[in-house]
Amino acid sequence: MYTFEFYNPVRVIFGVGKVACTGSEVAKLGRKVLIVSYEDHAFMDELLDRIGDTIRDEGVETVEFFEVRDNPEVAMVAGGVELAKSENCDCVLAVGGGSVMDAAKAIAAGVYYEGDLWNMVYHRHDGSGSNEINPPQQALATLMIPTLPATGSEMNMCAVLSNAELKEKSYIWAECIFPKAAIIDPELTASLPSLLTACAAADTISHVLEIYINSQPDTPLQHYFQEGVMRTVIENVTKALDNPGDLEARANLQWAATCAINGWSYPGDGWTPMHQVGHQLTARHAVNHGASLSIIMPAWMEVFKNRRPKQYLRFAERVMDVTPAGKSDQDIIAEGVAKFREFLEAIGAPTSLGDVGVTEDDLAGIIDGVARVSFGPDGQLACNPPVSRDDLLGVIRKAL
Ligand SMILES: [Fe+2]
Repeated sequence: MYTFEFYNPVRVIFGVGKVACTGSEVAKLGRKVLIVSYEDHAFMDELLDRIGDTIRDEGVETVEFFEVRDNPEVAMVAGGVELAKSENCDCVLAVGGGSVMDAAKAIAAGVYYEGDLWNMVYHRHDGSGSNEINPPQQALATLMIPTLPATGSEMNMCAVLSNAELKEKSYIWAECIFPKAAIIDPELTASLPSLLTACAAADTISHVLEIYINSQPDTPLQHYFQEGVMRTVIENVTKALDNPGDLEARANLQWAATCAINGWSYPGDGWTPMHQVGHQLTARHAVNHGASLSIIMPAWMEVFKNRRPKQYLRFAERVMDVTPAGKSDQDIIAEGVAKFREFLEAIGAPTSLGDVGVTEDDLAGIIDGVARVSFGPDGQLACNPPVSRDDLLGVIRKAL
């Protein structure tokens, strides 16, 4: 049964060509904007030039901070904060994927933050270490222009950051980092390479799948939302891979990514245990975020499918289109999980740790990292039911 609060103040401007509205939207937020994008931005120079022109045409000054790499580092965020402060920027524009959007949100909050920026992040859930979790309370206004249909950061209050020194990756969760608006233009994703398109699809699916198999069972509308996101991605990612310029498929992937993690699919509780493992793969082994999920998801499901058979049965029939006639529930569930693994393989997403160079020798470090950052006071990873250290080792071994 539902018990929840819902709040999402992000205005979405969606459609092919809508990036042309950037200048007028930025002008609603301030008079001097910090534009945040990738350090390696040659592939989108034309887009950045075009966007800069639309902003300056509105009489708004621009300051460029093109320093973001994948899995944004808190040290890089600190550099953005310094620039925003020294230039007196009064709003922030992100042009890029999840790393860029999350960096922009963190910079926007960091401008007002006192003390160590890493304290904005929820981390060290076991209470070790000297840092205190202290989420930010205030941030500059932000506008998001996503160029990758995956993280959904454009319409939520989360920003994932990494700390190379601590080998940790975790997230800021604070209402003040909700963007003011997002311009979601599917045309900006038409040039994405195949591997990134596949990994983005896996990430989007993971955002609803984690909740689908771990959350409470009696929330049918939420389950229909979640199934809608998964089916939309499965139906459209192949079209986008076959024909990268298929803007209808790209639009469907973009909107699915946004809706997967903007709160609509959450029934009031829910955990993201696979993401906690994925974050360690990224922090310790530089695995692409979507790839980390495409590796963990099938292994997780194969190991835990009998813990909540009702959910897995539903997944098999409603998401993977397994026909139940003449089959036992166990066979249907196993076929659903197997079809999901086949789907990930067919779109070219990695499905084993070997694909990304992680070996048996690395497993203890990964488990230790998950335990330090994400285990609760009960010494387990939050999920339904909770996952012990040994259970987790079983999953990661399965993914080898
Ligand atoms: Fe994700």
